[in-house]
Amino acid sequence: MTEYYSIKMNFFGNSDPEKLVKEFGSPLYVYNEKILRQKCRDMKNLVDYPFFIPNYSIKANSNLNIIKTVREEGLRADAMSAGEIQLLLHAGYKPEELFFVPNNVSEAELKYAVDNGVLVSVDSLSQLELLGKLNRGGKAAVRFNPGVGAGHHEKVVTAGKKTKFGVNTDCVSQVKEIAKKYDLRICGINQHIGSLFMEGDSYIEGVKSILAVAEQFEDIDFVDMGGGFGIPYRKQEGQEALDLASFREKLTAVLVQWTEKYGKKILFKSEPGRYIVAESGILLGTVYATKNNYGNRYVGTDLGFNVLARPVMYDSHHDIEVYRNGKPQNQGATEEVTVVGNICESGDIIAKHRTLPAVEEGDILGIMDAGAYGFAMSSNYNMRLRPAEVMIKENGEAVLIRRRDTFEDIIAPFNI
Ligand code: LLP
Repeated sequence: MTEYYSIKMNFFGNSDPEKLVKEFGSPLYVYNEKILRQKCRDMKNLVDYPFFIPNYSIKANSNLNIIKTVREEGLRADAMSAGEIQLLLHAGYKPEELFFVPNNVSEAELKYAVDNGVLVSVDSLSQLELLGKLNRGGKAAVRFNPGVGAGHHEKVVTAGKKTKFGVNTDCVSQVKEIAKKYDLRICGINQHIGSLFMEGDSYIEGVKSILAVAEQFEDIDFVDMGGGFGIPYRKQEGQEALDLASFREKLTAVLVQWTEKYGKKILFKSEPGRYIVAESGILLGTVYATKNNYGNRYVGTDLGFNVLARPVMYDSHHDIEVYRNGKPQNQGATEEVTVVGNICESGDIIAKHRTLPAVEEGDILGIMDAGAYGFAMSSNYNMRLRPAEVMIKENGEAVLIRRRDTFEDIIAPFNI
């Protein structure tokens, strides 16, 4: 068997999966602070250029403790909703460190951002009109759709001809007209081509096209190139990480060359979500039943799609590790199993026909790379409590950073 990721990274610090589940319950999201901080540093180093800053896209993981750690590392942040702005302000961010990148929002939501001094990017001409009315004489940014998309699934490709996002790149003159009408200054433009690319070329193509749009604005302060940086979800099959070093070289060259032509040093930004948090999170769950149904071996766990929606929603692959008595099981007999959760739908499958070390009831499963879009997309479906979240601190200690839901949390909103 391949080397277990959790072992290689000393992921669980002074603890082990069994102790963690005993202390904090199952299922459980566990994060590693050291890895999280390292990913932040990698991203800050994405370009060899002094005017570059990544904005953490908090939709990937909005645990307040994680946001605060990312902030300590010096990243700024992106928000997709008024709720995310509110949370970021609560985490200690200053309004000018935030960028609001919404899609189809109400006047009230736009007004919330404007009143709080957060720069807004609009992604349609109609929302630009609305922003103009609310922020006459102020600043605005515009999200363009560069016509090139990328992503691990069609549901997360957010640019190109088949997506709702962004303003077409041939609408620059309309953008300028609306801006003039409301005395708005277009201070920046942005894009996000989609989520998860493993080779940098599609991103660089996207950057080139957004820069071609940027050139048509005489006096902008920044270009935000978007997020989407992939992580290797199939490490057990030997998948390699994104080659950041060669990416850095190519991207830097494009930015430097463009800046010389533009004649003004502007700020470049990116919007990573997954890259920052995915590999710093492992989801632990417990095997409660095993059975053979008409030739299929099922491993029944508490890891339903209420806890991790990605496999069901996008057919996403997550590597799985098996632990028994706190120890990794990566030697000995293997079997082909289908790992399922405890939700009342037959699609509630976390891994189909996966070869794992022979699993027994009581074993703990570790779902790798679950830090991004894991807890963030969890729900109370079937009246299940969303899991607790624990951080393994740099000194190896396990600290609870979000308690498990309680029944009281579930009934509190009802008007009875
Ligand atoms: N910027 C914008 C405008 C976005 O919409 C997104 C993600 C990001 C940045 C961050 O993208 P990232 O670096 O994380 O790829 N739930 C899906 C991913 C949805 C991404 C939505 N937008 C998943 O689990 O794969």
